[in-house]
Amino acid sequence: MDCTDLGEPESAILGILERTSKPSRRFHSLSVAVTVESLCLRFGIDPRKGRVAGLGHDIVKDRPIEEQWALAGRTAAHSQTMSFFDLVSSLEDTEFADKVVHGPAGAVFLFESGLVGSEDVLRAVAYHSTARLGMGSLEKIVFAADKLEPGRKGAGPEEAKALIELGLDDLFFFALKRSMRWLGFHGASIAQSTIDLYNALKSAGKGT
Ligand SMILES: [Fe+2]
Ligand SMILES: [Fe+2]
Repeated sequence: MDCTDLGEPESAILGILERTSKPSRRFHSLSVAVTVESLCLRFGIDPRKGRVAGLGHDIVKDRPIEEQWALAGRTAAHSQTMSFFDLVSSLEDTEFADKVVHGPAGAVFLFESGLVGSEDVLRAVAYHSTARLGMGSLEKIVFAADKLEPGRKGAGPEEAKALIELGLDDLFFFALKRSMRWLGFHGASIAQSTIDLYNALKSAGKGT
């Protein structure tokens, strides 16, 4: 991604990341944006939407957790983010809630700050941690790029090869399995919706 070609939302998001995120998060967000952009070009999706979603997916992750929950609590206040209300409700009182609430919270932040109006982009940000059944192409791309970008711990030649060679559904399932394996390895809980998604894809014959 050539930073001199960035449009207004991308520059504004970079500025916000600069002020509110730790350096490793900024590096990861840039790497996700570059990865998403190349996947969008490969799969015929608007690369600009991809860059914005990639740069913005973790935009509130380093903010205080109370602030993240306050943002997530406003999903129902806007028609563009209303569909994430069930996601936020499903997280409440779960062990991993604080780790993944930055998805829907980030979508509300990007919408309320006037940076993103596209529902495709908002949805990709909202579901990038938990995933869901019936994800659209940009959602799958952002999810996969977040888990497989080259700067991510554990990402190596196998992940790089997958990003270049696999079709979108196979790439998404590859990333989902990597993510679940990482969570299992670290003894972390996995969202029920993620487990349901894995089982549904598995029984549909993916990744066999
Ligand atoms: Fe994230
Ligand atoms: Fe991320």
